[in-house]
Amino acid sequence: MDTPLIADDIRSEQNVWNTQDTLTYYQTHRRTPVDLYPSERFYLPDVLPRVQSALDVGCAAGGFCRIMRSYNAGLRYVGMDIIPELIEVARKDHPEGDFVVGDGLHFPFSSASFDLVHSSGVLHLNSRYPDMIKAMWDQTRHYLLFDIRLTEGTAFKGTMRQPPLPYYVLNIDAFLAFLQSLNPQPSVLRAKGYPHEAAATARLPQKNIIMACFLLEKRAEHSRIMEIDFNAA
Ligand SMILES: C[S@@+](CC[C@H](N)C(=O)[O-])C[C@H]1O[C@@H](n2cnc3c(N)ncnc32)[C@H](O)[C@@H]1O
Repeated sequence: MDTPLIADDIRSEQNVWNTQDTLTYYQTHRRTPVDLYPSERFYLPDVLPRVQSALDVGCAAGGFCRIMRSYNAGLRYVGMDIIPELIEVARKDHPEGDFVVGDGLHFPFSSASFDLVHSSGVLHLNSRYPDMIKAMWDQTRHYLLFDIRLTEGTAFKGTMRQPPLPYYVLNIDAFLAFLQSLNPQPSVLRAKGYPHEAAATARLPQKNIIMACFLLEKRAEHSRIMEIDFNAA
C-alpha cells in the first residue's frame, strides 16, 4: 500500500498525538467491545455484520481492528493514522488488519473502495473536518459512520491537550445543512446523541454539549430518510 500525501497543516496540528503516553494508552485501551462509548454502540454493532470492508480513519494503535472483527470475523479492516509510530505498533499488534499512514484527506485507494468508512474521536479535533468528511464520503461505497460534538446554540471552538488541539462544537442545523450538501447527497442520514459534559481535559466556553454519532448511507434508490434523536441516552 502506498503512503498517501499528508497535508502539512494536518500533520503539524495532529503531531500532539506523537507521545509515548498516547502509544501506551491505545495499546492497552479501546481494544474490546466493552471499551466502546455509549454513542459508539448506537450504530457500529448493527452495521458491522452488514459490511465486508472497513476503513478506520484515526485508528491509533489499531484496537478497533479487534473490536470490529469481534462483530464480523471476516471483515477486511484497514486502519489509517497520521502518526507513523502508532501505525508501526498497530501492524505488530494486529497482523489481521492492514494499516497505512495518512491524514484522512488523501487516500491511496480509489473512490468507493470500502463498504464502511469509520472515524471515532477524530473529527471534532481537526480543523480540516469538513474536507475530511467530504473525502471519507468519497471513499465509502455505502456507509459513513463518525462522531462529532454539537450544540443547539452558536458553534464554538475550544482546545484540548498541550500543545493545544482545536476542539470544535458545531451548530446542529448548520452541520445538518453541510451533510445534505455532500456529493452525492446522502440517501439516509441517521444521527443519535445525548447531552453530556465534554472531557475534563477540554477547555471550552461551555461544557454542556451533545455527543453525537452520524450514520450516512449511499443507496441506489432515490427516496431519502432522515432520523435524528439527540436525546437518545
Ligand atoms: C482520540 S484518538 C482516537 C483513536 C481511536 N479512533 C479511538 O476512538 O479509540 C485520535 C487518533 O486519531 C489520529 N488522527 C487525528 N487526526 C487525524 C487525521 N487527520 N488523519 C489520520 N489520523 C488522525 C490521532 O493520531 C490519534 O491516533
